[in-house]
Amino acid sequence: MVLPHTLSEQLIAREEKYNAHNYHPLPVMLERGEGLFVWDVEGKKYFDFLSGYSAINQGHCHPKIIATLTAQAQKLTLTSRAFHSSLLGEYAEYITKFFGYDKVLPMNTGVEAVETALKLARKWGYVNKGIENNEAVVIVCSENFHGRTINVISFSTDESSKNGFGPFTHGYEIVEYNNIGALAEALQNKNVCAFLLEPIQGEAGVVVPDAGYLKTCYEMCKVANVLFIADEIQTGLARTGKMLACDHEEVKPDILILGKALSGGTLPISAVLCSDEIMLQIKPGEHGSTYGGNPLACAVAMTALQVLKDENMCENAENMGAYFRQQLTALQSPFIDIIRGKGLLNAIVIKHENKEAAWNLCMEMMHNGLLAKPTHGDKIRFAPPLLISKGDIDECVEIIEKSLKILE
Ligand SMILES: Cc1ncc(COP(=O)(O)O)c(C=O)c1O
Repeated sequence: MVLPHTLSEQLIAREEKYNAHNYHPLPVMLERGEGLFVWDVEGKKYFDFLSGYSAINQGHCHPKIIATLTAQAQKLTLTSRAFHSSLLGEYAEYITKFFGYDKVLPMNTGVEAVETALKLARKWGYVNKGIENNEAVVIVCSENFHGRTINVISFSTDESSKNGFGPFTHGYEIVEYNNIGALAEALQNKNVCAFLLEPIQGEAGVVVPDAGYLKTCYEMCKVANVLFIADEIQTGLARTGKMLACDHEEVKPDILILGKALSGGTLPISAVLCSDEIMLQIKPGEHGSTYGGNPLACAVAMTALQVLKDENMCENAENMGAYFRQQLTALQSPFIDIIRGKGLLNAIVIKHENKEAAWNLCMEMMHNGLLAKPTHGDKIRFAPPLLISKGDIDECVEIIEKSLKILE
């Protein structure tokens, strides 16, 4: 047995020993972050090109978000919803006006918000659409990723996320993503209450549907009296160059799901937004969460949203994303098969005979000071914080170019 010798190796060994092995991280041990950068315990600095799976759109430890967090943490953090707290109404007004909805239902993690949206859709289907009890169907897409509860993995097409976790829940029909005809067929079923999708499939490797797909799906849902639910947990909050990815096609989802960057990477904060007609079907006692809508989260979420607006992060994501893809294309690497994305949610697909090539490239980029993680084997997502500048991108593309040599 080789004994760990660096501090990073020692800390990784301890984590492996005591923590569940439910992730396969790169062997880097981080202890500090600021803006675009993170530092490991040896003091080495890295560009963060994952941004906590797009939770850190505003950059690590954004001073305004941290100021709000620390100030509110000294005042009041949790009341539970058994009592009113003075910030909930203020936050609810702020976020509903920000996105143009009647009501918000605050939760914590992303998958909880997805579950919330599904409950709202089913209830709406029974009460408003007249679907017979327990017969409601939600249409979902192949290669989706909406989280990891038993219900949500029940409609996943990724066998590795399901294997050994059955039995699964019912009431879902899976259609091919980016296939209008498949959706049209599924919408024939009168028991369909909703269509749930990611406007861009992040975990699947940043799969961007054809232009017009979202708009057409939305219009088909309207005709069929079916709710259009957008999971914008990863694509929302300026990541793709607009506040919501659906904004690219001027689609306003009936139910909007947000998470991740709603706290700028400080706390699990998620939210479901919709009309009164949908939201008011849920009555006291039918849904909730101890931490959902807590004062700390309310304060942090308002600042996190305001920062996105004040610092023009949509524009920067749009411009820098285009520049980044252009610079990556200019590399003309034989190992990059596809470059795709919108704004600063991007991915490359690696072409190489070695199945470990994407992992090996990520290891090399790590050594050269840039952190990114493969998804589904041969894809690498590039999603830096949205404050990245042209000069930073030039530096990062140089790191990527230098690292690609490992594949020669
Ligand atoms: C589109 C989408 N939905 C849901 C989730 C689940 O969010 P959480 O991990 O906070 O439960 C994720 C997380 O990556 C996501 O990308």
